Amino acid sequence: MKPESSTREITAVAGPSLALLKYWGKQDGGVNLPATPSIAVTLGGLESRARVAFAPEGTGDLIVLDGREQPAHHFAPMLNELRHLARDERGFVIESSNNFPTAAGLASSSSGFAAVAAAAARLLGLPTKAEQLSPLARIGSGSAARAVFGGFTLWPAGALSASPLHPVDFWPELRVVVVTVSAGAKSISSRAAMEATRRSSPYYEAWVRDAGALLEDGIEALANRDLEKLGVLMRRSYMRMFGSMLAADEPILYWRAGSLNALLLCEELRGRGVQAWETMDAGPQVKILTEESSVELVLDELKAYFPDKTPLVAAPGPGVRFVD
Ligand code: PMV
Repeated sequence: MKPESSTREITAVAGPSLALLKYWGKQDGGVNLPATPSIAVTLGGLESRARVAFAPEGTGDLIVLDGREQPAHHFAPMLNELRHLARDERGFVIESSNNFPTAAGLASSSSGFAAVAAAAARLLGLPTKAEQLSPLARIGSGSAARAVFGGFTLWPAGALSASPLHPVDFWPELRVVVVTVSAGAKSISSRAAMEATRRSSPYYEAWVRDAGALLEDGIEALANRDLEKLGVLMRRSYMRMFGSMLAADEPILYWRAGSLNALLLCEELRGRGVQAWETMDAGPQVKILTEESSVELVLDELKAYFPDKTPLVAAPGPGVRFVD
């Protein structure tokens, strides 16, 4: 026990990890061990901020996200592991907020768990390098294993941790236009949806096999900063991921009409020679990878379909950091 810690609080900030090739499905034998390899970019400008302090003696964890108390059991596996490593049994008071919609398929769990893992680890006096935080953040939410790093990351199938592929300044012209088709929380969590896909989709095994086959080409396209080649692979990855979900019993359908409109618009833009390559996650939002020079055009075109929305524009961002 470190008595001086009890009045301390630590704040950490992290950006969401957007998968270019997707993690969908878990292997047996551990917590959030991915069945498929993923590569991702950490986004700048979109932020989860977590402030962590010790709870009053004798009380358990209290977690408040965007002003709402969260079920403590969602956080327990990661927080218990942190406590175990530090041999410190104290509870935490955690206040977390996002400057973008929560639980709506914008990977807020990746940035949220990355920020909480970092702040709690520092409060406990544990090491806080990104590679040390990655396996801890993973216990909270798989994609958080990537979000602790800035820039571009790789998370191999079955791996306890993600690792950095390229630093934040590797591809300065890359932009991600985030279209928030619907800001409401998603109908089914990624955790439940992954499990339902694994259990009941006849296409699940094909998805896992094929995702592995995309990896090498994806790593190469990214290393060459070849948006067209990467875009083709990104589309295969997310379309096949959703294919496996649609075949689940009950079918899992995160898309909304607006999602499809954004997809069709990207197709049309590509037909006109514009590099606009979309991807989607466990929610209706559409993220469009493009180059800085095409952002204005993409935003203008989106206005026709989404007149009342202002899409976010993000660039590759830094890894988890402390603000105190
Ligand atoms: O880490 P989770 O449980 O939020 O799952 C992330 C799943 C996807 O966003 C759909 C894909 C990914 O690799 O981030």
